[in-house]
Amino acid sequence: MSNHASLEDLASKIQPIEVEGQQHYKESDFPYVYQCQAENASLDTALAWVEGKRDALLEEATKHGAVLLRDFPFPTVEDFDAYIQALSLPNFPYKKSLSNAVRVNRTERVFSANEAPPEVQIFFHHEMAQTPLFPRWIMFYCEIAPEKGGATPLCRSDVLYDRLKEACPKFIEDCETKGLLYTNVMPDEDDPKSGMGRSWKSTLGVDTKEDAEARLLALGYSWIWQEDGCLKVTTPKLPAVMEVDPGRKTFFNQLIAAYSGWKDSRNDPSEAIRHGDGSKLDADAVATAIKLAEELAFDVAWQAGDAVLIDNTIVMHARRSFEGTRKVVASLACMQTQSFQSEGESA
Ligand code: FE2
Repeated sequence: MSNHASLEDLASKIQPIEVEGQQHYKESDFPYVYQCQAENASLDTALAWVEGKRDALLEEATKHGAVLLRDFPFPTVEDFDAYIQALSLPNFPYKKSLSNAVRVNRTERVFSANEAPPEVQIFFHHEMAQTPLFPRWIMFYCEIAPEKGGATPLCRSDVLYDRLKEACPKFIEDCETKGLLYTNVMPDEDDPKSGMGRSWKSTLGVDTKEDAEARLLALGYSWIWQEDGCLKVTTPKLPAVMEVDPGRKTFFNQLIAAYSGWKDSRNDPSEAIRHGDGSKLDADAVATAIKLAEELAFDVAWQAGDAVLIDNTIVMHARRSFEGTRKVVASLACMQTQSFQSEGESA
């Protein structure tokens, strides 16, 4: 006889709990939190529970925005990898992404969330919403909890959209009708000191300038080579708002991050983002968006072993600065594409 809880036993001991600061909108709790209250849960049984509940977990992540699993028997990154496999979602490899963050793979599916130094704050964004390719799902896992700071703030982007539409209707109209253009400068070689230091070779998955240009052309980007070998690119027009369900819209973009945070030795945030017609964003409206997102933030105060499943089309994330060691890793799943459709154009 094993001392481990049976699946039935375990299922009865995994319960939704309330956490401090949890938010409530209509029928949803943000975030939704399951605690494993069995002390003798084995990894295999927990994985069997995840497999059996897979569809429900994904639906809950969409409904609530994020599902946090706490006190599950996931003490290592390898266990987290096994949890991701139990969700059986197609992997979105970092290598294939156009993300501008420098990351290091830990397993085939799991990588460091961002190699930027502790004092660097990362602002709210939907993962890769500034590129035509984005992941539907994000899974974060805390390997080592930070000593001080280092929370991962989450923000319900559907709620933010509604509030912003009330506060700045003209701005939201501009966002919806004009879309957004993002500009950034990529270094010649990876620069781990920057939150956006991924080299153009790595970002585009190429070795030569010719191949870089071919890839950019295929993606609809424009570009300018800098004298120092850096590459300045501007995206095609991308949407600023996503209708995830009839009547449920989210502020799906990287506006806040680009405007507040795309700053390093190569990048100037005032150059980073424009409307699709080239016009500047309304600075007061952007300040309102930043303020509202901060008001709506739920800070995941990490405990080692925590795993969070996020629907990237519903929830934005960020990173607070921290002190000491903090290891939060991530995995992305289900590549989706987006392109801007102006009114009258059909998809
Ligand atoms: Fe991110």
